[in-house]
Amino acid sequence: MQRSGNGAQRNKTEDDITAEVLARFSGTPNPRLREIMLGLIKHLHAFVKEVQLTEAEWFQAIEILTEAGKMCSDKRQEFILFSDTLGVSMVVDLIDHRKPDGATESTVFGPFHRLGAPEMQPGGNIAHRDRSGTPALISGRVLDLDGRPIAGALLDVWQTQTNGLYDAQDENPDELHMRGKFRTDAEGRYLIRTVRPVNYPVPSDGPVGRMLKATGRHPWRPAHTHFVVSADGYEPVTTHIFDRIDPYLESDAVFAVKDSLIVDFADHRSPDETAKRLGITGSYCTAEFDFRLVPATEAKTTVMDAQHRLAALGARA
Ligand SMILES: [Fe+2]
Repeated sequence: MQRSGNGAQRNKTEDDITAEVLARFSGTPNPRLREIMLGLIKHLHAFVKEVQLTEAEWFQAIEILTEAGKMCSDKRQEFILFSDTLGVSMVVDLIDHRKPDGATESTVFGPFHRLGAPEMQPGGNIAHRDRSGTPALISGRVLDLDGRPIAGALLDVWQTQTNGLYDAQDENPDELHMRGKFRTDAEGRYLIRTVRPVNYPVPSDGPVGRMLKATGRHPWRPAHTHFVVSADGYEPVTTHIFDRIDPYLESDAVFAVKDSLIVDFADHRSPDETAKRLGITGSYCTAEFDFRLVPATEAKTTVMDAQHRLAALGARA
């Protein structure tokens, strides 16, 4: 190997470059940032060498990332969708949300949460514009790990319409629909009127969709309703409940199903007193789910804090 007068190498191998880059980052003052950067460089370089990445493929990756960035707005998050469909979101979820036995398990936040959902009274209908779905009542309690009710807990709920689209994907993307915030009563109870959730494909009109197609994967997610449940003094939980009869429970495009989050939707031919009071006149279904929250130990950045930052980044002028 040739060396210049001061000893610096001129004809470097791939491994020389990796070593030099690692050395350059090894002085990062913040120890956690140093750990992350050194791990990133090590694995990123190893990946490039393992697949023998060509320059054309490298440029294609730049194009894909650029396109993904351009698709992001306050209503669309293509990078979260990439993370979800690559399984990274669920690995992070499992690492960062280890829960004690009995606590409600978390799952992916997904790209479709929106800020500003209206606060609703118990039994409020988040599906007020949905005319074709089966009316559904989701109810239950928010409890601590000893089974004591948590009064005043906040449930931020969102779901697709029966056409399989979130509000932001449909004709009037600026109007909020299928979203609401509910508070538990003194016994920790909540009650939500919605429609039975349906399975739906993740958005396939961008680079994530092309990746799924090119790799022979389907884009479907099993029917679910999203929740972020929070209460003072407890760790918030970001989760879904899933419909037990859904054919995609075994092959969720974003790997987010956990057994403890699967519920039975019971069918009813005619409304009981509660359903009548909420304006249901014909057949409908019900599901029950109790959330169990873990006491907060340390102040952590929550998914909702991150959502505020993302929304600020993606807000359209
Ligand atoms: Fe969803």
